[in-house]
Amino acid sequence: SAGKNGYPFYMEKEIMEQPEAIENTIKNRIVGGMPDFTADGVPDTLFTECEHICIVACGTAMHAGLVAQALVKSILHMHIEVQMASEFMYSDPVIDEKTLVIAVSQSGETIDTLEAVKYAKNRGAKCLAIINVKGSSIARESDYVLYTNAGPEIAVASTKAYTTQLAVFYLIVARMAHSRGVFDDAQTQSFVRELQRTPEVMKKVLERRRDIHVVAKKVLGAKDLFMIGRGLDYSILLEGSLKLKEVSYIHSEAYASGELKHGPIALITQDTPVVATVTQEKLMSKELSNIKEVKSRGADVVVFIKESIVGDLAKEYEIFTLPDMQDEFMVLPASVALQLLAYYVSSDKGFDVDKPRNLAKVVTVE
Ligand code: AGP
Repeated sequence: SAGKNGYPFYMEKEIMEQPEAIENTIKNRIVGGMPDFTADGVPDTLFTECEHICIVACGTAMHAGLVAQALVKSILHMHIEVQMASEFMYSDPVIDEKTLVIAVSQSGETIDTLEAVKYAKNRGAKCLAIINVKGSSIARESDYVLYTNAGPEIAVASTKAYTTQLAVFYLIVARMAHSRGVFDDAQTQSFVRELQRTPEVMKKVLERRRDIHVVAKKVLGAKDLFMIGRGLDYSILLEGSLKLKEVSYIHSEAYASGELKHGPIALITQDTPVVATVTQEKLMSKELSNIKEVKSRGADVVVFIKESIVGDLAKEYEIFTLPDMQDEFMVLPASVALQLLAYYVSSDKGFDVDKPRNLAKVVTVE
């Protein structure tokens, strides 16, 4: 299964594997329509006895944590922070026995994340790890582990590990909301049902990958690029931007679109393409007005937008429509689309997509 299976690069193969990977992540953790971690040995007390949550991770895994942060705040109304593991120990983190620390790592060997787990455990926190590689150091060091079951990820740029980390987070949020009395049975089941739609929805994006290849040609020649969005769209773009940076070597900055006017809009010219995601209905009108601002400064704008809200935007912008899910799940189809964008830019430029310069798959130096 570690072969390229006919694809020119592992990254493409791993992007295409995501519907199946998500299925493998969630299938044994849904019992009677409810999220269930019994087989993983993760007790509900872990979710009911904590007062706050701290997520520690690096890079893409940290971006999965940012999405979880938004869900925990909006659904569970709990205190939660996401810490870059490399900064964690130097930031005087407020951690105690009432803290649930969630460490996220594909490899399970990232030294910064491992050290953060050791530090948190010394302060009495309980640690739950979300890991892809079985038996890895972080998995062994943590009190509990939820494996993502994504299968081997070979390309340096993480794709299926990220979306399966998200799937685990959706299950955790649902289980936690139920065990803390925030969701009743019906709400929990409906949330889980939406998650179960993910493989089919992802397939729809993957079937239209040629359209994303066309969009990719628009940004091929860029030296600098901005990705803009608000709320969950901003989290999606932090990851999309990291992906593009690492495989295409384009300087890409994700910016919360409301912040543009506080500085970076000075950099927008006709040579600076802008990629926007619009997936959150309640933020749509503000996002569209920010998109208009950059367009009026000459930027070529590509918009990845939720299908049901596209209206007649295609008359003004280069559009890729994302199949509908409930807003809090739109991260999943949007991320697949942005992974494909990064992939096509890199392969069209003739780069070695799987082995970007200066990067290693497993980072064991601090
Ligand atoms: C992602 O595309 C990266 N190459 C990188 O940011 C990675 O996510 C980070 O180094 C963390 O790795 P881990 O998940 O194995 O801990």
